[in-house]
Amino acid sequence: MKIGVIGSGAMGSGIAQVAAQAGHDVLVFDQNAAALVRARHSLKSTLAKLTDKGKISTEESERIFACVTFHESLDALVPCALVIEAIVENLDVKKSVFKALEQLVSDTCILATNTSSLSVTAIASACSNPSRFLGIHFFNPAPLMPLVEIIPALQTDNQLTEHCAELIRSWGKVPVICKDTPGFIVNRVARPFYSEALRILDEGIADMATIDQAMRNLGFRMGPFELMDMIGHDVNYTVTESVFSAMYFDPRFRPSITQKKLVEAGWLGRKAGRGFYSYAEGISVPQPSADEALLRSIGSRVLAMLINEAYDTVYYGIASAESVDLAMTKGVNYPKGLIAWGRELGIEHVRKSLLELYNKYNEDRYRLSPGL
Ligand SMILES: NC(=O)c1ccc[n+]([C@@H]2O[C@H](COP(=O)([O-])OP(=O)(O)OC[C@H]3O[C@@H](n4cnc5c(N)ncnc54)[C@H](O)[C@@H]3O)[C@@H](O)[C@H]2O)c1
Repeated sequence: MKIGVIGSGAMGSGIAQVAAQAGHDVLVFDQNAAALVRARHSLKSTLAKLTDKGKISTEESERIFACVTFHESLDALVPCALVIEAIVENLDVKKSVFKALEQLVSDTCILATNTSSLSVTAIASACSNPSRFLGIHFFNPAPLMPLVEIIPALQTDNQLTEHCAELIRSWGKVPVICKDTPGFIVNRVARPFYSEALRILDEGIADMATIDQAMRNLGFRMGPFELMDMIGHDVNYTVTESVFSAMYFDPRFRPSITQKKLVEAGWLGRKAGRGFYSYAEGISVPQPSADEALLRSIGSRVLAMLINEAYDTVYYGIASAESVDLAMTKGVNYPKGLIAWGRELGIEHVRKSLLELYNKYNEDRYRLSPGL
């Protein structure tokens, strides 16, 4: 089965590698010739590193490299049975690419988008046969992150969803099926990790080093501020804003002015040498407070908001409890699934934490999910 990939940037090149490692011939198209050259070099050096580490043999590396071909014309994708698009995150551009692609490929070719934040249903509407269209959402870096969200559009054929989930499983990935809703699973459920941390900072309850420590104490690999600095505030803020407006301005998803200011200043995080933290040489790292009660209360507040969002996602049938837990552990390395974590803490305890916040602030943001 030949797989087409449109876009050879960060995601497209990773997806191409995954499909080639699974034994497919992969045809990559990008409108930018320089991006294709970069992707080819990067595949070669990634495979060389895997060979050096003994993860794959030299023959395997050569086989995988030979499976991937790079093309400057969309016409090259004609023989593909599945095409995954990973181009710029722009609805009109994606729609026009699928319109053109549909004229070229066979009637049975499956069409998929790797969009993070756009409506899969809206992109599907550009196709004359949208029943063969769906979202196949990989996480960055695609070769390393096991999770793949499978998102049927409103128009998608039910059987196709299952078929694609099986295919992605055969690639060694962990597929989870979710409804086409803003942020899908991960980018919705993870919002409070950032937004509640920012809220605590904005209220002056604790500084960022203390909030980061509180979350690391719970087993998260990184605290919210160090993680936002790593993701980049331009990317993280855009996702927050897009989920907020797509959720009709539900206050639970409200972005933070503090983060917006970082974007405006160009303090985009690690890549800019400065975000919440400074990455300049010789700058000492701010130390967290040693106040155990404060650390526990911050951790419990952010965790309660995360659990609330996870239960809401299940309550509204966006994904099953099992999928939500798989998504957060396999897509963003959470130490535990949030549904399981809620049960472990005791639902009554989580409910009580949220009700305390609701009574304190009188804000809809802290309302209990009916799922709790
Ligand atoms: N970067 C992430 O962490 C991440 C994670 C999951 C999903 N996504 C989604 O994947 C998609 C790609 O993201 P990325 O980070 O790989 O972007 P990127 O900027 O690294 O790469 C995009 C590539 O698409 C090419 N391109 C743009 N318009 C094109 C067109 N009309 N036809 C052909 N090629 C075109 C560009 O030349 C570029 O090489 C986006 O929809 C994004 O939302 C990104």
